[in-house]
Amino acid sequence: MKAIRTDSEISAIAESCEIAALVLQDLVHLTVEGISTYDLDQIGKEKMAQYGAKSACYNYRHGANIFPAYTCISINEEIVHGIGRIDRMVQNGDIVSLDVCVSYNGYIGDNAKTIAIGSVDTKIENLLEDTENALRKGIECARAGNRVGDISNAIESFIRPKGYGIVRDFVGHGVGKTMHELPQIPNFGKKNTGPLLKPGMALAIEPMINLGSPNIRFLEDGWTAVTADKQPSAHFEHTVLVTDGDPKILTKVKN
Ligand code: MF3
Ligand code: CO
Repeated sequence: MKAIRTDSEISAIAESCEIAALVLQDLVHLTVEGISTYDLDQIGKEKMAQYGAKSACYNYRHGANIFPAYTCISINEEIVHGIGRIDRMVQNGDIVSLDVCVSYNGYIGDNAKTIAIGSVDTKIENLLEDTENALRKGIECARAGNRVGDISNAIESFIRPKGYGIVRDFVGHGVGKTMHELPQIPNFGKKNTGPLLKPGMALAIEPMINLGSPNIRFLEDGWTAVTADKQPSAHFEHTVLVTDGDPKILTKVKN
């Protein structure tokens, strides 16, 4: 597998990741009751341009489908790949998943998080906290000498006892010049299986966890994945570098 990046690729990916993190941070602050998801998406587009980057989602092709938005904004039972709409206002009690994937100097940076608007049920608050902690558990295993299955298993074994549904239809992935490179990183799996992790791999790890059943459907737009039982879903993602030592989260805002 050609997933080991050169030093110059790693610095390019790191720059792209920092921009992705800045744009995500901006969007998190702007996601308030009353704003439309279309406006949020447009702001995302403008912020990317301000940082000299482009959306990696816009015009992304999957079969005959072309993604029409600049970010992915998915509310409540929407899992991932939601498309901003002028008539979809953020409301008190919503959870909003913001997914920002940019291309800068030819390399990708990818991150996402789910935030609560105003007050939400304790069980939904817990879903967000547990999904973010599942991501941390996965990242902790992104170490040279481990295998992809160790990341997958860390996420699954943290989440499964809590009774949530782990989405199986989408997976984490390597990042490089394109958004979805090898290795694929499922959010479930067995320890000590799958591709060996080596220093220089840049991995987007992204648990998508449902309050209820793991099953999904697609909306008529052909993109938005929703939970089959319409219960809420959370999504947290970082792009992480495998090193000789500790895993390095690249999608971080530097101070
Ligand atoms: N972070 C998302 C992913 O890895 C970005 C998808 S953009 C889309 O799948 F164009 F595919 F929607
Ligand atoms: Co991703």
